[in-house]
Amino acid sequence: MSETDPICPTSARVQEVSRETPDTVTLRLAHTAGEGERLFLPGQFNMLYAFGVGEIPISVSGEPRLAGELAHTVRAVGAVSDALVALKRGASLGLRGPYGTGWPLALCQGQHVLVVGGGLGLAPLRPAVLQLLEEGACRQLSILYGARTPDDLLFRRDLERWAHRCEVRLTVDRAAAGWQGRVGVVPALLPEVEIEPATCIAFVCGPEVMMRFTARELRLRGLSSERIFLSLERNMKCGIGLCGHCQLGPVFVCKDGPVLRLDRVGALLEAREL
Ligand SMILES: Cc1cc2nc3c(=O)[nH]c(=O)nc-3n(C[C@H](O)[C@H](O)[C@H](O)COP(=O)(O)OP(=O)(O)OC[C@H]3O[C@@H](n4cnc5c(N)ncnc54)[C@H](O)[C@@H]3O)c2cc1C
Ligand code: FES
Repeated sequence: MSETDPICPTSARVQEVSRETPDTVTLRLAHTAGEGERLFLPGQFNMLYAFGVGEIPISVSGEPRLAGELAHTVRAVGAVSDALVALKRGASLGLRGPYGTGWPLALCQGQHVLVVGGGLGLAPLRPAVLQLLEEGACRQLSILYGARTPDDLLFRRDLERWAHRCEVRLTVDRAAAGWQGRVGVVPALLPEVEIEPATCIAFVCGPEVMMRFTARELRLRGLSSERIFLSLERNMKCGIGLCGHCQLGPVFVCKDGPVLRLDRVGALLEAREL
């Protein structure tokens, strides 16, 4: 990562490619930070550049302090993400960042942390879960996660491991043969969880409609807006507050976000035209 020019990518090499789902891979990139050094805050993103194709924001999905590994989980949805998903071990790509705000882990001490993810939204939440489990600072951790089908659930081995250490509830929109879990949308999992509004804090990331309904349900359960954090997505170019591409009303998602408190963005999310 460049320390001199924040908009100039440096070259990174793909160390390992793991297939998560039919259209999604995790790219583990080699980096030069020292052992134990914190490379990013959970929730932050990097701009990844597929040479000759283009550059897109991708959240960091790995362990914040794992030396020698910087993981990004990418779903192929268009030209640049297709090119990134097609990269093989040893390939080069451009990297700049990390950018944006992270999940407020400092507020989690002694709290019940509710992690609510939909689809690819589990990727930016994963480093927060890893850090919370490692540090053991929160009182209770509940993970509610859903995807379109069982095959679309990300990080399945992690989910199995996490289920031994905290509450994990999964759901899918459409079941498939062998699926014995719940079928339905992610916000429908919330009534299954006991919430004490004064000591609960929620981190939510997923499709915007899922975040809207989750935030509404959490508010109905008594959680104040100051205790609900969302990670937003907007089209980005510069990633550092210069171009205005990511603007949502007065908010620059790249630099004021992507992680924002509900009281800052709630009304903007309800306005569909923004
Ligand atoms: C802060 C942030 C973090 C992100 N983290 C991840 C991640 O961890 N993994 C991942 O796979 N993707 C992530 N994304 C989304 C990713 O950046 C887009 O999928 C990517 O920009 C698409 O570019 P493309 O050239 O592949 O496709 P395009 O051809 O540009 O777009 C394909 C389709 O996706 C839509 N689209 C493009 N960009 C966005 C966007 N930002 N939000 C919503 N819809 C969009 C387009 O309208 C189009 O319908 C993140 C985006 C942001 C802003
Ligand atoms: S992406 Fe340029 S201002 Fe946010």
